[in-house]
Amino acid sequence: MERRDFFKLGLAAGVSTMALANNARALEFYPMPSDKKTAVLFATWCGSSRDAAVWISEGMGGIAKVFDVRENPDLAPFDHIVVGGSIRSGVTPKELQDYIAKNKAILKGKIRGLFAVCGNGEKPVGPAQKTMYIDNHLAKLTESANVPSKVFNGRITKALIDPENRKRMEDMYPTFAGKPLEDYDLLKRSDCLAFGREILAGIKS
Ligand SMILES: Cc1cc2nc3c(=O)[nH]c(=O)nc-3n(C[C@H](O)[C@H](O)[C@H](O)COP(=O)(O)O)c2cc1C
Repeated sequence: MERRDFFKLGLAAGVSTMALANNARALEFYPMPSDKKTAVLFATWCGSSRDAAVWISEGMGGIAKVFDVRENPDLAPFDHIVVGGSIRSGVTPKELQDYIAKNKAILKGKIRGLFAVCGNGEKPVGPAQKTMYIDNHLAKLTESANVPSKVFNGRITKALIDPENRKRMEDMYPTFAGKPLEDYDLLKRSDCLAFGREILAGIKS
């Protein structure tokens, strides 16, 4: 092959790879085919809810495609949708709230699970967090009642928080947690997998 042709080929391959990357939306690397069209939609600041969403999909046997709300995905082709996000100042990211409001008609009757990821001052979550973040927040936004739901303890990676919010958290954390803010990780993959299995059982029956 001529040197010139070799470079042309390389350029073409590079361009098509870029085109593919630009079109890639959901995390579609799961090998499990399914007749159920299932999606997990998440909203995160620093990644906890992204990991929870992927692990929930794994708990569902890897059949669910996983979407970041910032991609503004078209969920119309899906029959079963799980929605969740991280909590700051008592609510999920505005992008998720706006997306749900804009896509109410598409989401209607398709919500199969709701989840939230929060810090809760590193204390175990309980019924109060379910009331605040599921019943009074995500269930109301999505107009879905009596679907499986779960609030997970999340994590802090200080290096990933923007400087303004990091300072805000560092200033107030000792008041409600009784100690200075340090990195922690309380999100458990096994809990997310179990929640995925629970949702899948609900879809099957
Ligand atoms: C600025 C800020 C505000 C937060 N507000 C709350 C809150 O109101 N309630 C709570 O339980 N956790 C709160 N957290 C903890 C986060 O919910 C927790 O760290 C979560 O795992 C973050 O998810 P993410 O990694 O997906 O962004 C807050 C964290 C930050 C950085």
